[in-house]
Amino acid sequence: MGKKLRIGLLGAGRIGNLHGTNIQNFIPDAEVVIVADPFMNEKMEEWAKSIGIGRCSKDPEDVFSAADVDAVFICSSTNTHAEFMIRAAKAGKHIFCEKPIDTEVAKINEALAEVAKAGVKLQVGFVRRFRQAGQALCRQGLLPRSRWPAHVLCSCFRRYLHRHDDP
Ligand SMILES: NC(=O)c1ccc[n+]([C@@H]2O[C@H](COP(=O)([O-])OP(=O)(O)OC[C@H]3O[C@@H](n4cnc5c(N)ncnc54)[C@H](O)[C@@H]3O)[C@@H](O)[C@H]2O)c1
Repeated sequence: MGKKLRIGLLGAGRIGNLHGTNIQNFIPDAEVVIVADPFMNEKMEEWAKSIGIGRCSKDPEDVFSAADVDAVFICSSTNTHAEFMIRAAKAGKHIFCEKPIDTEVAKINEALAEVAKAGVKLQVGFVRRFRQAGQALCRQGLLPRSRWPAHVLCSCFRRYLHRHDDP
């Protein structure tokens, strides 16, 4: 992948803020181009501006319909995840979705079926703080312990895209 991966961030709460900040600061070949949150306020807009996110919206549709968005980060409230996965898949966007996809198996299966049908890439965010690989990165001093969970998630997403683009 030669060009930067352009990301649309859905949800600017706690985890959206963390992922957005990590992408902008630590993932050189990815950038957040738009963030949408129905409760977008001045504080969120200031945060977005401070890390170089060019567009803020109160309407998630602005993310799904954006021609310059390659992938979405679904960091909104849990009850939106399955629907947003389906909308993203139908729009041909790759997906990073925070856990959980949903609390109902039927909705999860419906969302996964749409992802499979669209052929987009999906990763679900899950805390791996206590897994061996993460602990090893910390022990080797490759990542500050305080920051590594979100950083590893973003890095994994990037690597995942690279791996699947390489024949
Ligand atoms: N993997 C992890 O370690 C981890 C950690 C924290 C949270 N999470 C998950 O992330 C999700 C968000 O958690 P949080 O702690 O950031 O919550 P939060 O309440 O701080 O943020 C959620 C944000 O989503 C926004 N939102 C609500 N409806 C929306 C919509 N229709 N479109 C766009 N944005 C919308 C809200 O306005 C809010 O700003 C939850 O599903 C949670 O389970 C995962």
